[in-house]
Amino acid sequence: YIEQSLRPQNLGQYIGQDKVKENLKVFIEAAKMRRETLDHVLLYGPPGLGKTTLATIIANEMGVNIRTTSGPAIERPGDLAAVLTALEPGDVLFIDEIHRLHRSIEEVLYPAMEDFCLDIVIGKGSTARSVRLDLPPFTLIGATTRVGLLTAPLRDRFGVLSRLEYYNEKQLAHIIERTAEILEVGIEYDGAVEMARRSRGTPRIANRLLRRVRDFAQVMGVETITTELAVDALERLQVDKLGLDHIDHKLLLGIIEKFRGGPVGIDTISATIGEESHTIEDVYEPYLLQIGFLQRTPRGRIVTDLVYRHFQMEVPNID
Ligand code: ADE
Repeated sequence: YIEQSLRPQNLGQYIGQDKVKENLKVFIEAAKMRRETLDHVLLYGPPGLGKTTLATIIANEMGVNIRTTSGPAIERPGDLAAVLTALEPGDVLFIDEIHRLHRSIEEVLYPAMEDFCLDIVIGKGSTARSVRLDLPPFTLIGATTRVGLLTAPLRDRFGVLSRLEYYNEKQLAHIIERTAEILEVGIEYDGAVEMARRSRGTPRIANRLLRRVRDFAQVMGVETITTELAVDALERLQVDKLGLDHIDHKLLLGIIEKFRGGPVGIDTISATIGEESHTIEDVYEPYLLQIGFLQRTPRGRIVTDLVYRHFQMEVPNID
């Protein structure tokens, strides 16, 4: 499965997130020296920046297996109990979208994280009793795009909190070159930079653009992606100079055309453009906030002058 093999397998292959990487390297080495499990790790930040990849790398570097599940997949306490009791000593348990775990399930997780044990209730009513099961020591790695939605007791039980940042152009160009090598397609550096510039700081998007541009190269019978070919393909893919796509455009132009630039609430935006408010908040907004295209105010979202300029529209006078 190609998607998987593109992913870096160890910290040395992982490009960017230097601070997170340097710290993790120390914590992993220390845990190995003590022959202990690594403390629980919470990875947070916008989607597509490599949280799942890092979790896999941490397991590889620790020399243990990784079990993967997600917040929405665990519907009842018993589902989590089944996952926990199947762990081998030292394993990494990766829970993606951990902010979507139900409260009642979080409570099963607390003693598991803290004391490696599981409290289960047997029977019902007056004959119900609680038994405590020992679990193998393990490392929980939680990933979330919305750290603010985690309850304080859950957040506090992670020993390592790492925030992933958007990648810069150079790092993304480097990632694109690395992926191109794995995909066995040549690429000019300036072509990689051109793609990097339109990847919204996100490796997942960079690699997706590379695959699509490579399709153009392939059909044209070209073995190397030149800068010219990259620019041409990116035009056809309708990603603009900043990497904004159709939905970003709908969102920004919707606020301008229907709400005179805002402020407008997220649910109103959602209803207007027909995208889930969660998707807008988790996927689209973070980058638009980062590049200063959107601002959050107590009364809702507003677009900034940069947006009008980007679309070559007249900046309105506010009086
Ligand atoms: N592919 C996706 N993300 C990557 C990263 N951070 N480093 C190297 N290759 C990647």
